[in-house]
Amino acid sequence: MEITVSRDPEQIAARGADIIAQHVADKPATVLGLATGSSPLRIYRELGERVAAGRLSLRECHAFLLDEYLDLPSGHPEAYRAVIERDFVRLVDIDPAHVHGPDCTTADPVAGCAAYEELIAARGGVDVQLLGVGGNGHIAFNEPGSPFASRTREMMLTEQTRLDNARFFGDDVDAVPQRCLTQGVGTILEARHLLLIATGEHKAQAVRALVEGPVSDACPVTALQQHPHVTVLLDDAAASLL
Ligand code: GLP
Repeated sequence: MEITVSRDPEQIAARGADIIAQHVADKPATVLGLATGSSPLRIYRELGERVAAGRLSLRECHAFLLDEYLDLPSGHPEAYRAVIERDFVRLVDIDPAHVHGPDCTTADPVAGCAAYEELIAARGGVDVQLLGVGGNGHIAFNEPGSPFASRTREMMLTEQTRLDNARFFGDDVDAVPQRCLTQGVGTILEARHLLLIATGEHKAQAVRALVEGPVSDACPVTALQQHPHVTVLLDDAAASLL
């Protein structure tokens, strides 16, 4: 696990964008794993600036989202598909048809999850997976207790995660869905390179668990200790308990 700590958020974003750009330089049809939440936003903006400046092209890339809410009305601006369109797709030159997420519109979510796994496999798997981490150590929406072998499936969100994400829903926790579809921990571990970004003191416990903690499904992010190629980008506050 390679860990970089930086005081400057722009430096973190530049390092993250460098890593993605290197993958794309090596393989123009890189398969990207995209995360939502605030952690990757500066990286997406930095990638957008590089594309606008003609220094990078994601035209041949494909991308897969980690997770999606269930039960949101269609067209809701906080559906992760809408978020990723706004915060990533429109900033870069990736073909929107190349961007995939778990299908929450299907009447049969179990079949939809299996189809999503097949779609990722058919693309040859994810080359570089961006990840944030929840304050409770969740990755994607794999809440504590998620088995490391878990695959894409329906999950219930914990009250803590719904409270954390209420800021995206006008601070109204009741507006945050209770259910979601998420790639499993096992699905995520199959990506060839994991790139985790964590900033802020509220992530310090989860980061300590990631780096030093016992490997346990009580804290899903500790599964990354079992992965051969992990890069962690932290600010001082997130690294404060190391
Ligand atoms: C959500 C997402 C996760 C994300 C986490 C942290 O629950 N499903 O993928 O990593 O929030 O979000 P943030 O980066 O905003 O702290």
